[in-house]
Formats: sequence, structure tokens, C-alpha cells
Amino acid sequence: MKNKTVRLRELNFSVTKTREQIAARVRQIGANLNLDYANKKPVFLAVLNGAYVFTADLVREFEGECEVAFVKLSSYAGKESTGDVATRIGLATSIKNRHVIITEDIVDTGNTMHKFLRELEEFEPASVEIAALLVKPDALLHDISVRYVGFNIPPDFVIGYGLDYDGLGRNLPDIYTLEE
Ligand code: PRP
Repeated sequence: MKNKTVRLRELNFSVTKTREQIAARVRQIGANLNLDYANKKPVFLAVLNGAYVFTADLVREFEGECEVAFVKLSSYAGKESTGDVATRIGLATSIKNRHVIITEDIVDTGNTMHKFLRELEEFEPASVEIAALLVKPDALLHDISVRYVGFNIPPDFVIGYGLDYDGLGRNLPDIYTLEE
């Protein structure tokens, strides 16, 4: 780990999950997926933008055949989840009768997954599960079941490893939490 703290615009952040901790959890989730989805040819469905780093690492732990597809949803403005989820780019891959693994960097209020899971049902997938690197159980507003969780974290604002603050910080290899 190189920098333990980082400043973005007017805010200070400090490392709370190192790249080594993240890599270890991603490997464990990958091992679980290899057992659960052997011979199922799942479709990994990444929710852009934030999930691109997690998805890239996770799919490379998967040893069977799989596809990777992308949707773009957005709910955050600055540090706040707005609750207003917009689908900006829809599904280009057919998921009818396919086993779908949604990959998310973070499930926070659950607004995004709550809306998206209902949208996905219309495409008649064989199954849908969520793999999220981070979950904030104390912030959840919906009864969302996240089958594959990297870390449960407190309801603090986090950046890095794909997560941003107003577009910045996605490239940081570790996860940082906003300092009080
Ligand atoms: C983030 C994250 C999830 C969502 C989670 O996306 O990637 O999709 O918020 O929050 P929720 O559970 O409160 O809905 P964001 O809207 O910041 O877009 P981005 O991935 O492009 O940064």
C-alpha cells in the first residue's frame, strides 16, 4: 500500500480496505462462484460505472465459460445516493434463460438493485444473484439479498477500486473512507 490518505477536491480520505484484502476476498468469491456456477455458463452483468474494476478482477477468477455484459445505471450526485435511479445504457446481451450474476461495487441504499432487479425479471433469466464488493447493511432501504458479499461496511462514504467522488478516485487500488 502506498498512500494511506488521499485528498480529492476539499475532502480527505483514508484507506480502510487494502488492495491485498480486496484481492483475497475477490479470490474467495471467485472460488464460491466456481462451485455454484460450474457448467452453468453464467452472464456476469456489470453495473457501470463503479463495478468495472471489481468485475474485471472477479471474472478472471471464474474458470468456466461465461459472458460479460454491461448496463449503465446511475443514482449518485456527489456524496449522496439520490434514490432516483436512471438507466443510461440498457442491456445489449440476451439473458433469457441464462444464469445472471449482477456485479456491483457497492449496494448502499439498495435503490439501484431494487429497481434493476424488477427490470431484469422482464427478460426472463433462469436465475439472478448479486455479487457486491461492498454492502452497507445499515443504509439498506429495501430487502435486497446479496448472495456474494466482499465486505459489509459502515454507512460512510467510500471511494477507490472503481468508486468515485464526483468522477474522481476510481483509479485508486485501495478503498478509502471519508475522514470525519
Ligand atoms: C453507485 C454504485 C451502485 C449504486 C449503489 O453507482 O455503483 O450502482 O451507487 O447505491 P444505492 O444502493 O444507494 O442505489 P452511482 O450512481 O454512483 O454511479 P457510478 O457507478 O457511475 O459511480
